[in-house]
Amino acid sequence: MIPEIRNDNGIETLYVNDKPFLALSGEIHNSSASNLDFMEKNVWSNLKDLNMNSVIIPIYWEQVEKKEGVYDFSLVEGLIHQARQNHMKLIFLWFGLWKNAESMYVPGWMKKDTATYFRAKKVTGEPLNTISPLCEAAIEKDASAFRSLLRFIREIDEQESTVITIQVENEIGLLGTERDYSNAANEAFEQAVPEHLISALGLSCGTWKEVFGKEAEESFMAYYFAKAVEQITKAGRNEYPLPCYTNAWLKQYPWFAGSYPSGGPVVHMQSIWRATAPSLFTFAPDIYVPYVPQILDEYHYEGNPLFIPEVRKDAVTASYCLYAFGKHHAICYSPFGIEELAMDPDAIDKPPMEVMVALNIDPSAFDIEGSKAYLSRVYQLMEDMKPVYLKYRGTPKLQSYVRKSETDYGTFLEFEKYDIQIAYSPRMPRKPLAAGMIYELDSDKFLMIGMMSTLTFRPKAGENVKVDVIHFEEGELKDGEWIPGRTLNGDEKMSVRFGDIAQCYLIELYKY
Ligand code: DGJ
Repeated sequence: MIPEIRNDNGIETLYVNDKPFLALSGEIHNSSASNLDFMEKNVWSNLKDLNMNSVIIPIYWEQVEKKEGVYDFSLVEGLIHQARQNHMKLIFLWFGLWKNAESMYVPGWMKKDTATYFRAKKVTGEPLNTISPLCEAAIEKDASAFRSLLRFIREIDEQESTVITIQVENEIGLLGTERDYSNAANEAFEQAVPEHLISALGLSCGTWKEVFGKEAEESFMAYYFAKAVEQITKAGRNEYPLPCYTNAWLKQYPWFAGSYPSGGPVVHMQSIWRATAPSLFTFAPDIYVPYVPQILDEYHYEGNPLFIPEVRKDAVTASYCLYAFGKHHAICYSPFGIEELAMDPDAIDKPPMEVMVALNIDPSAFDIEGSKAYLSRVYQLMEDMKPVYLKYRGTPKLQSYVRKSETDYGTFLEFEKYDIQIAYSPRMPRKPLAAGMIYELDSDKFLMIGMMSTLTFRPKAGENVKVDVIHFEEGELKDGEWIPGRTLNGDEKMSVRFGDIAQCYLIELYKY
C-alpha cells in the first residue's frame, strides 16, 4: 500500500501501511547524508534514544546525476537500507534546482552551461546564483531526474514503504530581488496573468501589475516557481505517487519580498501556489523565529495540513511539539540538525554566525541544552497516547495549550461540567515552556499530559458549588491504555502541577 494522505473526519492524515502515521521526526544537517559511512558513524547511533519513528534526509541532485543523463542511486539505496536497519521511516528532501533560494545542488555540468540554463537576474542585470524558474530546459532536466528517482524508490521500496513522503526542492524563491529581471522574465511580466490563475483566484484579467498591484513581483515569482515545481512533482508522482509537499522560508523581518525568498510558498502566496501546483498536499513552514506557535496557527488551515520539516531545536521545541499535535493535528514534527541533540552541547559545531545571518536565523534556536530529554519524552508520549489521540483529536474533548509570548500568563479551557484555569510557569533558560493536552474522557474524568503549568478546576459560571479532586493518579500510557503509578493525595495533591519533564495524570473531579 503506497503511503497517502487521507481525510479522517476532516483531518488530513498520513497513512503508512494502511495505518495513521504521526511523524515524530528530525531533519539531519545538509551534508550528513552525502556519505553512508558518515551516516553510520555519526548519525544513526545519535538518533537511537530520541524515540523518533522517522528521519528527514536530503537527496542531492549533484550526486545523483554527476554525468548528464546518467543516474546513480546507490546512495539512495544505501540510505533506505540503513533506515530499515534502524527501524525508521524516511522523508526525503529533493535538493534539485532550488535550495535556500539558490541553485547550489544542481549538477556541475548544468551550473557551467549558463547559456542554456540561464540565471535569474536583478534589476541591475547582475545574475543570481539561482537558475530562473522560467528556464524550461532546466526544469525538464530536474523533472527527468526526479522521475527516475521516484521510479527507483518504487522498485526497491514499494513493498516496505520505508520512504513515506518527499519534499520537492527546499525554501524556494529569490533573495536580493523581488523578481527575476532576466529577458524571459521581463517579457512574461508584461503578459496577461494566465487564465487558469485568474479564474482560480476569482480575479479580473490584466497584466501582473494590473491584477496584483504592489504584490505583482512576488506573485509573478510564486506563479513561475509553483509551475516549475508542479511539473517536477507530477513527473515523479506519475512513477510513484508518494505524498509530496514543499517548504517555505518564512516571511519575517525585514518583511519585504527578496529579504525573504520572493515567490516562495509563504502564507500570502499559497493561493497562487495551490492553484498552480495541485500535486503538492501542503506548504510547510521552516520555523526558527521565536514566535513558533503563531506560525503553527497560521500555517494550519483547511486544505493546508500542518507539516513541520524544520523547527528550532532548543528546549522549547518539546512544548511546541505537544501543541503542534494537540491543537493542529500535525502530520510531522521535526527539529533541524537532529543528530546533534544526543551530543554534548559544548561539542557541537554550531552553524557559524555568517550562516545565521545569511539565513536570518535566531541563534538561540540552535541551543540544544536539555532538548534531548524534553523532546524524547514528548515523542514517547505521543506514540504511547496515539490511540487515545486519534480518537479525540478534532473534537472539543481534546484541548491543547502552549505559552505563546512573554506576556502570556495562562489560559482558561472550558469543558462540559468543569472549566480549567491553567497558570503557566515563568520562562526559564534551557527549560521548555508551559504546554499540554487535556482529554475529557468523560464529564468528570480527565487525562492530562503537560509541562511547566499548574491547573485549577472551576465550576461552570453561575453554579454555587465547589470543585474538588476525588481521585488523582500519576501514570503512563501504553498503546493508549492507562498504566497507573502512585495515587496522589496529601502533600502531593495540594496542587495539580506539571514540571519540566512532561507528565501524565488521570484526574477525577466532583462538586460539593
Ligand atoms: C533552512 C534550510 O532549509 C536548511 O536546509 C538549513 O540550511 C537551515 N536553514 C540552516 O541550517
